[in-house]
Amino acid sequence: MTDVPFVLADGIVRRDAQRGQTLLQPTTFALRAGERVAITGPSGSGKSVFLRALALLDPLDAGRIMWHGAPVERAAIPRYRRNVAYIRQRPALIDGSVEDNLRYPFELRAYRDVRFDRDRAAALAGQAGRGGDFLGKLASELSGGEAQIAALIRVLQLAPEVLLLDEPTASLDPASSLAIEALVRAWFDAAPGRHASMWVSHDLAQAARMSERHLTMRAGVLEEAAPEELRQ
Ligand SMILES: Nc1ncnc2c1ncn2[C@@H]1O[C@H](COP(=O)(O)OP(=O)(O)OP(=O)(O)O)[C@@H](O)[C@H]1O
Ligand SMILES: [Mg+2]
Repeated sequence: MTDVPFVLADGIVRRDAQRGQTLLQPTTFALRAGERVAITGPSGSGKSVFLRALALLDPLDAGRIMWHGAPVERAAIPRYRRNVAYIRQRPALIDGSVEDNLRYPFELRAYRDVRFDRDRAAALAGQAGRGGDFLGKLASELSGGEAQIAALIRVLQLAPEVLLLDEPTASLDPASSLAIEALVRAWFDAAPGRHASMWVSHDLAQAARMSERHLTMRAGVLEEAAPEELRQ
């Protein structure tokens, strides 16, 4: 059964209960092994609402998320989030050094079976063009680009299966953006057919670089993009 999607959104809906507004119209979407998907669309159209719902970060108002063909039970949500990792636009780092931040997840219950690997972390920093001193830098002194690189390394060292990237480079300089792209590409290429990604971007050139399949979101409705939209 190789055709079972990694992640299947089965008629999922998100509403704003207070205002009675539907933020995400009933959406069915499959993310399969080896796929790289980009989502573009106007600001406020529901891209983040959709990605956060896929990541099981917000409660669904209808539908369900299937992971490898099975619904994700409540007890399995930490394991799901470990494998289907959501990367936000503005990373949240704890006080301390980059290394403190990279060590942090290993203190959590969901990661008790794995240990921090400094060489691996340094190698990931190297893939992002950072030298050996990067792990010693203070989180409070990082540029926006460096903070996002640290946040991405923090996720990648835990070997996720799927990355859900929500405008990870929106406020970054071009060099940092390319470093983020390089990290994601290296992760993807390291395990052919065993990873998948979704990348929300307002940058069509980036969307084209980082995906083979392009979706658009408009007013809470997800659609396959028409081919000409990729060339705009
Ligand atoms: N938790 C929430 N409760 C109520 N409304 C929300 C919630 N999250 C998002 N919204 C609303 O849902 C709509 C879609 O928001 P969303 O953040 O998904 O847009 P987006 O497509 O990601 O935009 P951008 O490109 O600016 O990031 C907006 O009108 C937003 O105000
Ligand atoms: Mg958004």
